[in-house]
Amino acid sequence: MNVSGTSETAEEYRPSRFGRAFYRVGPEMDRRGAIQHRVRMLSELTGNVVEIGAGYGATFWLYPPLVTEVLALEPDAFLRRHARHAAEHSGLNVRVVPDMAESIPCDDASMDAVVSSLVLCSVERQETVLAEIGRVLKPGGVLVFYEHVRSRSRMVAGLQDLATPLWRRAAGGCRPNRDTVRAITQAGFTMDSVERFGFRVNAFAPPVAHVIGCARRVGAEVAGA
Ligand SMILES: C[S@@+](CC[C@H](N)C(=O)[O-])C[C@H]1O[C@@H](n2cnc3c(N)ncnc32)[C@H](O)[C@@H]1O
Repeated sequence: MNVSGTSETAEEYRPSRFGRAFYRVGPEMDRRGAIQHRVRMLSELTGNVVEIGAGYGATFWLYPPLVTEVLALEPDAFLRRHARHAAEHSGLNVRVVPDMAESIPCDDASMDAVVSSLVLCSVERQETVLAEIGRVLKPGGVLVFYEHVRSRSRMVAGLQDLATPLWRRAAGGCRPNRDTVRAITQAGFTMDSVERFGFRVNAFAPPVAHVIGCARRVGAEVAGA
């Protein structure tokens, strides 16, 4: 693993209210079908992988056998503790570290894949994180993603815009109105596949637009790479 200088001072992050809440709602989402989406997202991966914002480690036991090692980043101390517990029981060669996706502790062009599952909605600046992902991926390496995104319906997108300031404060920085596929393309990745679908995260929520996709770093064309 090409880990360069993981900052243990990030261990000082306090467990957030969001971390505790997500630890409750995440398993419910998985029971409602998110787990199948995660499996599809991960199914083609091989080699060494970085998973940004790994949460409590819901994906660890779903990685396919050709994945040799996973570096899982999780800045929230509460979720990270659970991710480490999941890592111990997963049978996967995985290391959980406190780093942010804005500063991935890997060498340039050293990783076969980066995984983002419900994280690009929450990072402060998508373009910074996407450039960082481009930096660590080998040429031809892939970013696989499972994200909720801005609706194609103008009316629903307008409602998402209205809800975003409040939702962002309540849900760990999450912006429901982001056009993440567009951001990935604008960052210079080539889109291999994108599947769009509606998904209800709980029994009372309306279906929300989600995407699963695979974007490739082709040569040095990724912004910042
Ligand atoms: C909705 S949770 C998803 C967790 C996990 N990926 C999953 O699918 O279950 C969002 C996660 O992103 C993490 N996160 C938020 N901002 C981040 C950042 N800038 N860098 C890395 N992780 C971040 C949060 O701590 C949280 O674990």
